[in-house]
Amino acid sequence: MTPGKVYLVGAGPGHPELLTVKAVKLLETCDVIVYDRLVQEEVLAIAKSSAERIYLGKSVGSHESRQDEIHELLVAKAREGKMVVRLKGGDPFLFGRGGEEAEYLADREIPFEVVPGVSSALAAPLSAGIPVTHREAGSAVAIVTGHEANREHSRLNWKAFAGVDTLVFLMAVSGVERIAAELIAHGRSPETPAAMIQMAFWHGEQVVTATLATIAAEVARAGINPPATLVVGEVVRMRGKLRGAQRDLRRRPDSSPAFQPAPSPEQLLRIATGGIGTQVLRFALATSLFDRLAEWKSASELARELGLNRMGLAEVLECLVSMGLLEASVDGYRNLELASRYLVKNSPQSLRPALLYHGAQTMTLSSVGTYVLNGRQDIAANDPSHLREASCECLARYALPYVAEKLDLTALGSGLFVGWGGRTFHELASNRWPNTVWNSCNPFESREVRDPASAIGLNGCRYGAVVLSGLLECCERQQFGPVLKAAAGGLTPDGLLIVHDSFLSSNAVTPQEAVLSAFGRHVVLGGSRNWSQSRILSELENAGLRVERQEPIPGGTQLIVARPM
Ligand SMILES: C[S@@+](CC[C@H](N)C(=O)[O-])C[C@H]1O[C@@H](n2cnc3c(N)ncnc32)[C@H](O)[C@@H]1O
Repeated sequence: MTPGKVYLVGAGPGHPELLTVKAVKLLETCDVIVYDRLVQEEVLAIAKSSAERIYLGKSVGSHESRQDEIHELLVAKAREGKMVVRLKGGDPFLFGRGGEEAEYLADREIPFEVVPGVSSALAAPLSAGIPVTHREAGSAVAIVTGHEANREHSRLNWKAFAGVDTLVFLMAVSGVERIAAELIAHGRSPETPAAMIQMAFWHGEQVVTATLATIAAEVARAGINPPATLVVGEVVRMRGKLRGAQRDLRRRPDSSPAFQPAPSPEQLLRIATGGIGTQVLRFALATSLFDRLAEWKSASELARELGLNRMGLAEVLECLVSMGLLEASVDGYRNLELASRYLVKNSPQSLRPALLYHGAQTMTLSSVGTYVLNGRQDIAANDPSHLREASCECLARYALPYVAEKLDLTALGSGLFVGWGGRTFHELASNRWPNTVWNSCNPFESREVRDPASAIGLNGCRYGAVVLSGLLECCERQQFGPVLKAAAGGLTPDGLLIVHDSFLSSNAVTPQEAVLSAFGRHVVLGGSRNWSQSRILSELENAGLRVERQEPIPGGTQLIVARPM
């Protein structure tokens, strides 16, 4: 049997958002994952469910036998023809025995590849707000194993290290006392700043800062455990300024330090369209909460500003923390980057109108609102018809760059956009394909429309492309067929019909929340609640069109491209 291949993959410091794109792709496709202690559950969850997950964490004191076991396992799985990911914390070639594993595979002629990862040597100091180099505080950095420190005849050249601006020691917890003593004995000032960072980017993250003279005692006092990284040098002082850096990996520096990756804009849309998350998010948007949380603010302060019940508001703020939109500390609450970028009113990338609109379609403010407002009823729902238009335009801005990336409409001469988000589409498409003349119309603008096909307004023209967007939510099945036929009739013989919509449910790609919210909107708005991909495909066929491609687009939408048969 032809052997498979072993990928020695760096998993970074453990947080799934700090994996490389290549690592994610390999995890998604591999047959076997061999991993050890410093890999988070969410990282393993990326793999397909059928992938075999083998834990081979090393227990202290049994390194050699465990390492032999790992070597043999990698070879055996590859010889079964499997694609194996050997996932290693940080970077595979930095103190991780990755070099030895690669050597073992090379000796046995097993195909292998090494994929770099973000090493904790850099990520742990960074996480604590310590840059390992800085023009004024450090121009050289050495990365050293702390394991060697306690050895009788350590091979470490303390004299040389003492002269390096920044020293990063991995595996340094048990050796910290000796490390500090050796550096001082070899000429480093006892006042040199030092920091120990435990479990950077995990929810047990803890940072201790001290001087070389006091670091061992402080580490013991704080009960720091491995994995932890020690940084020594003037750069540690930078932490004072940089520790407050905002980051959008979810992390809570207080007593319940759980964190998870912050949601992507796509997930935001999902949150906005399903379940209690909708109510909470909509309440926050309607009260412009995110606009008030550019800087730290306590729940009491915010409740006073808004005239709300403090306890109720605090609960909502906690929900927003758990959704990855706010961070919490003793100073109160503050936007994570995702909120400052997508949820405040005046950001160029604001998704606020779309999220408010979707919320308005699926729920009323009543339960969360009544609870938090404690009788205040004056934060009323915004005007739904205005919101709908704003929502569609802003979603078009979000989704159309993806559509444009996948289509080349350069040579089509003229195009017609039918549906919601027409203004934005017109603007984006005219920039993207300047030689194509675009028209747009929306037969469903008025809910009274009886004959949408004639409302498309072809006026005898033929188009190189007709794009139907966002129509399904307001189209009854008997209406959509005629719309398609009319659109197909307006195509040139080699023209393209493009359906871009969010209601093509597919178990594989459409998130459950999107399906639920589609249902919610159908209940509110009418229209057909059971469009499926196969129905759309048969409608296209009935309209004399042949489907060329069909793929998901971020935001829970899909793109279908068809041509006249
Ligand atoms: C065997 S070494 C492997 C290093 C890994 N190859 C890398 O590039 O990060 C393990 C050491 O890395 C450091 N380490 C790993 N993950 C860490 C984390 N999340 N926070 C702080 N230090 C970490 C600790 O010093 C730990 O003892």
